Amino acid sequence: METIGILTGGGDCPGLNSVIRAVVRRAEKEGWRTLGFRYGWKGILENDFRALDRNSVSGILPKGGTILGTSRTNPYKDASKIRQDLEKIRSVFDENKLKALIVVGGEDTLGVASKLYRDGFKNIVGVPKTIDNDLSCTDYTFGFDTALNIATEAIDRLHTTAESHDRIMVVEIMGRHAGWIALEAGLAGGADVILIPEKPMDVDEICSIVKRRASRGRTFSIIAVAEGFKLLGEDVTQTKEPDAFGHVRLGGVGERLASVLEKKTGFETRCTVLGHLQRGGSPTAFDRVLGTRFGVNAVEYVKENKFGYMVSLRGNDIVPVKLEDAVKELKKVPDWYYEMAKLFFG
Ligand code: F6P
Repeated sequence: METIGILTGGGDCPGLNSVIRAVVRRAEKEGWRTLGFRYGWKGILENDFRALDRNSVSGILPKGGTILGTSRTNPYKDASKIRQDLEKIRSVFDENKLKALIVVGGEDTLGVASKLYRDGFKNIVGVPKTIDNDLSCTDYTFGFDTALNIATEAIDRLHTTAESHDRIMVVEIMGRHAGWIALEAGLAGGADVILIPEKPMDVDEICSIVKRRASRGRTFSIIAVAEGFKLLGEDVTQTKEPDAFGHVRLGGVGERLASVLEKKTGFETRCTVLGHLQRGGSPTAFDRVLGTRFGVNAVEYVKENKFGYMVSLRGNDIVPVKLEDAVKELKKVPDWYYEMAKLFFG
């Protein structure tokens, strides 16, 4: 019997279990067994896995998170250990006679997959995941739609309380390098200003939008701000300590902005940080279906020996893209889209 492996790495996101279930079910159809490596690359380095079958993935489709666990382990982090780690990974591949490894992750986890492929692990297939939707070469990553709906509902709810109190409500939304969730939730929820990492905006400009609204009798405002928005040109961070992939923990831009806006406009201002609420809970139907399609197609790539590729969504088709192309650069919000959103500011 042939064996394939699967791992989920990086920040969790709704829809991961749909991929795992789809991989196991599609692999079983070929008569293959699936090993689920635990906690991302950590499970590969430590040969920590659980055998998955139809029963063990039954009932997981509507569940958020990942039954395999996840971590931000990076085998390429420490230059002095890379050779040793690659040998360990090779022995895990050999010991388990892995026909293929399906790697489900975002820029970091798939970045490792791409390097491993370059370094001789030729039987790897990638599946794009992240609520941030910032992975290149795919129209959407699963997880994004769920996060977007959660953020939109939050903006809807903030509207009624903002209006009752004549307040500015700042809502801080996830998005480290790209503002996809803030932009689309802001558009869907009718935010009055949307602030994203890609686009600087001066505090005085934000204040003048709020004041212009007030002069029209709209004495409340909703400001959607991505956590990676650079207030006064700088990231607002929780800690300066970088993780295994060199990212610092962002957070706090909403509170800081709220305090500046209150002082400058005279409007009472509150901040809501959506944080990990955007990553938790049940995936939307869109994310479940996309995760399922990605999982099924990933196993089909294995069957066709189509290695070194990532499954991706183009229009309504699942198409292969080279892993190295997918991780070359992040997919940022394009100018035209932000300019369109600006039509609705104020
Ligand atoms: O990459 C997904 C993401 O949710 C980002 O939007 C956010 O900055 C980061 O992960 C948070 O990571 P953690 O769960 O480690 O706090």
